[in-house]
Amino acid sequence: MKRAIYPGSFDPVTLGHLDIIKRAAAMFDELIVCVSVNSSKHTGLFHPKERVELLRRVTEGISNVRVDCWDGLVAEYARRNQARVLVKGLRAVSDYESEIQMAMLNTKLYPRLDTIFLYTRPKYAYLSSTVVKEMARYGSDLSDFVPRQIIEDVEKKVRGTQERM
Ligand code: PNS
Repeated sequence: MKRAIYPGSFDPVTLGHLDIIKRAAAMFDELIVCVSVNSSKHTGLFHPKERVELLRRVTEGISNVRVDCWDGLVAEYARRNQARVLVKGLRAVSDYESEIQMAMLNTKLYPRLDTIFLYTRPKYAYLSSTVVKEMARYGSDLSDFVPRQIIEDVEKKVRGTQERM
């Protein structure tokens, strides 16, 4: 069984993430999308459990995709789940430097682990969860940014945080 892991913050999942998920799922027997906590991003918009719920909703039609959550090292998660491939999306050359460093570190931590990079489709190259949150704060139409099933959740969550400000 060829199993791969697609780790990320997914706060929230974007159309760019979903495109990578679909393409990676077509390459492996099983793809685990793993909501993983990025220690440099202290506060998220969504709680990791909510991100899992949103991811499950948008991937429910893809039978070989499983969504999970993990707050340890990704390499350790891969070892425990007997996966030898991590999937990462690359938007621009600027992503490359930190991603290649992470990939090498992950192989150092778990030598059987390799990372493959899928380029982001040009139509999503500008897109990130940060962009989505920014657009939502200004009340922009999110339909070009996130899967339609979660638009309301993002709008509601951002409204909720603005009311508390
Ligand atoms: O979507 P992001 O924020 O680019 O994802 C980054 C993430 C969560 C995949 C990365 O920070 C990560 O792997 N964190 C888990 C901790 C870990 O394994 N660190 C070692 C590799 S840097």
